[in-house]
Amino acid sequence: MALADRDRIFTNLYGYQSTDIDAAMVRGDWDGTRMLLSRGPAALIAEVTASGLRGRGGGGFPTGRKWELMPKIAGDERPRFLVVNADESEPGTCTNREILRHEPHKVVESALLAGYAIQARAAYIYVRGEYIREAQVLERAIGEAYARGFLGRNACGSGYDFDVFVHRGAGAYICGEETAMLESLEGRKGMPRLRPPYPAASGLYGCPTTVNNLETIATVATILRRGGAWFAGIGAPTSAGPKLFCFSGHIEKPCVVEEAMGLPFREMIERHCGGIRGGWSNLQAVMPGGASMPMLPAHLIADAAMDFDSLKALGSGLGSAAVIVMDKSADVVHAVTRLSQFFAHESCGQCTPCREGAGWMARVMARLVSGETELAEIDMLEGLTRQVEGHTICGLGDAASWPIQGLIRHFRPELEARIARWREERLPRAA
Ligand code: NAI
Ligand code: SF4
Repeated sequence: MALADRDRIFTNLYGYQSTDIDAAMVRGDWDGTRMLLSRGPAALIAEVTASGLRGRGGGGFPTGRKWELMPKIAGDERPRFLVVNADESEPGTCTNREILRHEPHKVVESALLAGYAIQARAAYIYVRGEYIREAQVLERAIGEAYARGFLGRNACGSGYDFDVFVHRGAGAYICGEETAMLESLEGRKGMPRLRPPYPAASGLYGCPTTVNNLETIATVATILRRGGAWFAGIGAPTSAGPKLFCFSGHIEKPCVVEEAMGLPFREMIERHCGGIRGGWSNLQAVMPGGASMPMLPAHLIADAAMDFDSLKALGSGLGSAAVIVMDKSADVVHAVTRLSQFFAHESCGQCTPCREGAGWMARVMARLVSGETELAEIDMLEGLTRQVEGHTICGLGDAASWPIQGLIRHFRPELEARIARWREERLPRAA
C-alpha cells in the first residue's frame, strides 16, 4: 500500500519550509526528547528492534540488532562512539543530501537518541566532501541544538553528556565503507579493515562503535515517538517502513521521494515519476539499487516489489535505493563499462583480486563495447567476476563484479551481436 501523508517522516523533504530549529520544532522535531531519553537505553533499543528498521545505506542490516551488538558496559571502560555515515557516493544516490539540506534537526535529534541508546560519548557525522553547503546546514543545526541545551553537557536536561562533530570527506568513494571511514576519521588514508572484528567490538580508536547511515539515523526520533509497531506496520513484512527512493534516468520526472517499501516498481513510477520516457514498452532495464546492484531487464522489474528481499530473489538488490531507469535508447553495455571504470578508479588497491581484477574487468568491458574481441571472452569475464566476488577485504570487489554479472545474465545476446557485427564489418571475408 502506498505511503499515507500522515506516515511521512521527512515532512520537509523538498525544503518548502525553513530548516531552522524553531521551524523544525513546529514540525515535531525535539518534541519530548527528554522524556524519550528517560525511558533508558534498553527500552530505546527494544523499540527500534521492534520497528524492524534495516540499514538504509545499502547493507540492510537490522539496526536494533546492530545496536545490541555493542558490548556490555560492565567491565568495558572504553568510550563508545556513534559514527553517522553521510559519505554518500554510490552513483545515483542522493537521500543523505536531501535530508542534510532540509531536515538537519531530524539528524541531530536522532543522533542524540541513538547515541544514548548505545551509551556513546559522542557522534561523528562524516559528510561527503562535495556536500559543502549541506555540511554548513548541518553545522548550523548542531549549533542551534547546543545553544538550546539539547546537546553537550546534560543534554536536554537528561543528565547525559553528548557531543556531535561534523567531519568532512575529501572525495574518495571508498571512505563510505564503514571501516575505511573509521581509518579516515583517525587521520589515516581511508583503506578498509578486515572484518571481523566488526566496529561494535573494535571501531573508532579501537573502541566500541556503531556505524549507521544518515538516513537510518534520521528515522530514529520519529520511530521512538510514534512507536516501533507503527513503523513495522508500513511496507513489506521483512522490509518495514517508509524509505527514500532516488529515481533517475529515462523517466519523465526524476525525483527523490519517500514511499512505503514493497510497492511495485510500476506503481512507484506512475505515482511519482510521470511514467517511463516513451511509455512502458520503451523500458529496457533498471538498476534498482545503485551502481553496485545488477541491472534487471524490463520484464523482470516492471512489476517487482521494491524491497530488500523481493529484489534479492530476482538476483539484484535494493542497495541504497538509487533506481536508475534505462529506456531503449540506452547502451546498456556502455553503461556497465562506465561503472567498471568507476570501480577500477575507486579501488583502494589494497587487495590483489580487486586491484587487478577491477582494472581487468574495465579493460575487457571496453573491448565488449566496440565488439573487438572473441566470444570466449564473455565467459572469461564472467569467470573473472566470480574470482573477485567474495575474495576481497571489502564489498568493492563485489560491487565491481555484480553489474557485469547482471549484464551477461540478461543481455548476453547483445554482447554476442556486437562481436559478430565487428567481425562482419572489420575482418576480411574468406574468399
Ligand atoms: P555489509 O552487508 O557488509 O554490512 C552492513 C552492516 O552490517 C555493516 O555496518 C556491518 O558492520 C554490519 N554487519 C554485517 N554483518 C555483521 C556481523 N556478522 N556482525 C556484526 N555486524 C555485521 O554491507 P556494507 O559493506 O556496509 O555495505 C554494502 C552496500 O552498501 C552495497 O551493497 C551498496 O549497496 C551500498 N553502498 C552504498 C553507498 C552509499 O553511498 N549509500 C556507497 C557504496 C555502497
Ligand atoms: Fe581496497 Fe578493493 Fe580490497 Fe576494498 S576490495 S580493500 S577497495 S582493494
